[in-house]
Amino acid sequence: DQTQREKEKQLAAATALRWIRDGMLLGLGSGSTAAYFINSLGEAVRNGQLQVQATATSHASDALARKAGIAMLEPRRGLRFDLTVDGADELDPQLRLIKGGGGALLREKIIATASDALLIIADSSKAVPQLGRFPLPLEIVPFALPWVLDAMEALGGAPVLRTDPNDAQTAVQSDQGNLLVDCHFNALPDPAQLAEHLQRIPGIVEHGLFLGLARAAVVAREEGVMLLRP
Ligand code: A5P
Repeated sequence: DQTQREKEKQLAAATALRWIRDGMLLGLGSGSTAAYFINSLGEAVRNGQLQVQATATSHASDALARKAGIAMLEPRRGLRFDLTVDGADELDPQLRLIKGGGGALLREKIIATASDALLIIADSSKAVPQLGRFPLPLEIVPFALPWVLDAMEALGGAPVLRTDPNDAQTAVQSDQGNLLVDCHFNALPDPAQLAEHLQRIPGIVEHGLFLGLARAAVVAREEGVMLLRP
């Protein structure tokens, strides 16, 4: 249930703190699990237990991290992160991921790719045998929307433009001012092939498949935490 899931998120986030060393440059993810991590990290920073610098994958996480007292870094040439800690919407046994439920997939992929390691923190509901039940998010240049919807329909992705939950007439905008489309495939037997296909469709800025990026995942269950490796 809901409270158990929140407990698991907190546990996964607290466990991830063990990977953080003094002086690290960190990528900070988005979503509710990453928010728990940012708060725990901020506490350790304010207590003087840890000294780190970080860049966040969304405006929301950036604001949270600043409020928590974490020193923030602007993007610059040559900047590499020692570790990024982020959540996921789904992860399979090979640690392939679906991300972007919170709409931050583009920056999440940019920061993950600029990191020496990506550590995923998740509650038990995120671990699945096969990806695809969670709708695959895409970030789309607004001009390209009609053709991307056609292309995704043809691929069997049942695309839905993401709108404000309180106002179906208003499309959700990403931090970059782009649109988000959620594709209901239901099952993704070959994520690598789909990713390749998506990269060839103009107007798709990025897709929510994260393949070969996660180094490890902390998955919290009622019985405790599990560390998964690809
Ligand atoms: C944000 O764009 C996503 O990739 C998040 O990492 C994902 O939605 C997980 O969010 P929760 O931790 O809130 O479940």
